[in-house]
Amino acid sequence: MGNCQVKIPATSANIGSGFDTIGVAFKLYNSVYVEETDGGLEIEVIDASKKFLPKDERNLVYRGIKTVFDKVGYRCDGLKIVLNNEIPVTRGLGSSSSGIVGGLLAGNYLSGNTLGTDEIVNLACKLEGHPDNTTPAITGGFAVAVKTDPVSYIKLPVKNNDLRFALFIPNFPLNTVRARGVLPKAVSHTDAVYNISRASLLTASIMSGRYDLLGTALQDRMHQPFRKCLIGGVNRIFKFGKDNGAYGTYISGSGPTIVSVIDSSIENKFYSEAQEFLNKHMNNWSIKIVEIDQNGATVNI
Ligand code: HSE
Repeated sequence: MGNCQVKIPATSANIGSGFDTIGVAFKLYNSVYVEETDGGLEIEVIDASKKFLPKDERNLVYRGIKTVFDKVGYRCDGLKIVLNNEIPVTRGLGSSSSGIVGGLLAGNYLSGNTLGTDEIVNLACKLEGHPDNTTPAITGGFAVAVKTDPVSYIKLPVKNNDLRFALFIPNFPLNTVRARGVLPKAVSHTDAVYNISRASLLTASIMSGRYDLLGTALQDRMHQPFRKCLIGGVNRIFKFGKDNGAYGTYISGSGPTIVSVIDSSIENKFYSEAQEFLNKHMNNWSIKIVEIDQNGATVNI
C-alpha cells in the first residue's frame, strides 16, 4: 500500500485580459498527503481552511484521486488524506484547483504513474470547468490554456525573475459560481477586439520581458467591469496600485483577491506602503507579495 505527498502552488487566473485562458503559479502552496489504507475514507484538514472543506467523498482531493483510479482501473481498499493549506479558500487564488491537481497527481502516483502531463491537464480542466487555474498549477510559470478537448496549452518562457505579485486579499469570500453569474451572455465586437488585442500583448510582453506594456495588456472588458460590484473597495485598490508604481492591477480569477503586478525593485516599498494604506483605510484586507513558481505541482514520496 503506497503513500505520497503532493505540493501544489496557488494560481491566479484570467490575468486581466486573458479571461478563462491565462494563469500564473505562485510560491504559495497547499500540500496533500495521501496514504492507502485497509478501508474507509479518512480526511484530516490541519489548518484554518477546515471549516470550508468537506471531509467526505465531495472533497476535491478525493474526487481527483478517484477520477484517476476510475480512468486507469486501479482499486484500493481505503484512503487517508491529510490537507495542509496555505492558499486562502474562495479568494480567487486557485485553492479548489490545488485540491483537484493534488488529487489527480496523488492518484496517478499511487496507481503506477500511467498518465502523462497532458492527460492530467485535461482531467483537471474537466473537473474544474475551465483550464486557467489548473494548468499553471500543473506546469508552473505562466500558462496559456484553451478549453479544447484535449486542452491546448503552453507554458510561457519568462525572460527573468523580476516580476512580483502583490496580493490584496479581503476577509470576505467570493464564490466562483456567483461571480460567473454576473457575466453577460454576449459582448460587443469592439469589446472582443479590445480583449483579444490586450491578451495577445500580455503573452508577448511576458515572453519578451516588456513589462512596461503590462499596464495596457492587463486591461479587460470581458469580466472585470461586471464583477467589480461584488468586491467592495476594488477601485481604491486599483488606484493604490496605479499611484504606487505597479505595472498594472487586475482581479485574480473571479475575485475577490486583487493583484498588482510590480517590479522586484519596488517590492519592499510597495509592501510597506500598502500595509499602511490598508491599516488606515481598508483594514478588512491584507497584503502578501509572492514570486512566480516555475515548477508546478510536485510529488514527493
Ligand atoms: N476563469 C475563471 C473565472 C477563474 O473567471 O470564472 C475562476 O476560477
